[in-house]
Amino acid sequence: MHVPKRTVSSAPGKVILLGEHAVVYGTPAIAAPLCGVRAVATVTDAEPGSGVCIVAPDLDGRCSLTERPTTDDLAALQTTVRNTLHHVTGRSDQDLCVTVRSEIPIARGLGSGTAVATALVRAVSAHVGGALEAEEVSDLVLETERLLHGTPSGIDNTVVAHERAVFFVKGREPAFLDAGEPVHLVIADTGLPSRTRDAVLGVQHRWQLARSEYEAVFHDIGALVERARDALGAGDVAELGRLMDANHALLRRLEVSSPELDRLVEAARAAGALGAKLTGGGRGGAMIALAPDGGDALVGALQRAGAAGVLGTTVPGCA
Ligand code: PMV
Repeated sequence: MHVPKRTVSSAPGKVILLGEHAVVYGTPAIAAPLCGVRAVATVTDAEPGSGVCIVAPDLDGRCSLTERPTTDDLAALQTTVRNTLHHVTGRSDQDLCVTVRSEIPIARGLGSGTAVATALVRAVSAHVGGALEAEEVSDLVLETERLLHGTPSGIDNTVVAHERAVFFVKGREPAFLDAGEPVHLVIADTGLPSRTRDAVLGVQHRWQLARSEYEAVFHDIGALVERARDALGAGDVAELGRLMDANHALLRRLEVSSPELDRLVEAARAAGALGAKLTGGGRGGAMIALAPDGGDALVGALQRAGAAGVLGTTVPGCA
């Protein structure tokens, strides 16, 4: 009996510890994989002549590689699959069915779209040719990020494809990080979508109106991130927490926080967090809190403060 070939790959979510938004303007940022939640892509051989089908149950979406996509998300899936097939085989007329699912909350600044693209690149490349190096995966995912977000810094694809904590500067080789002590983070979801493209365009618009003021904030964020890298390496979590608090204040000046994010940040601090800030694009989405211990007290406090969901993770990364 012929058993059709089946390939399954996955990829984690991500959190930005410090430096989001300013990283688009060339200052450093630190991100870590969110290992407990993943996107999973499955590729199976399809009937000869049937072409490539893409199925995304979380998006209620289904399309072939050649039809016009009905949503931006489906267009991103198509682009990812097409680019990967071309990269590995030089053509995209194979007969395959690709299914992708994700347990990462969508549009919360936690890397759901990046993880989906990364899982797709890994599964499709492994199915048709052979597994790619993390760097190649990252470059292919960056193409998809460009389609979805316009001007991505490249931090999301880098941290997800490598599954390692990273000190990232746009256009430079990433520097992967180890932590002197494991750092426990609690992540709380406001329940409101964070649209990265809109948040990034908003910052760009305000930067154009007040360049020197915004560039001073970008510079200050970059300086915090450098100190945070050193604190992380030295296992100085108290200092890391203070730097996260200072970063949140600067992100508020960039106008990317929201009342819901500020409320969760305050609740985390009141419950003993060593530091707390929004993470990712902001205006909604999620916040992170640095737990002094395993984080149980923070989880309860954030739930009581109205978080739509709470997750925990440990930096540096996926074991
Ligand atoms: O995808 P998000 O919402 O986590 O945002 C990525 C971080 C930004 O700095 C806001 C954008 C970027 O490209 O770095």
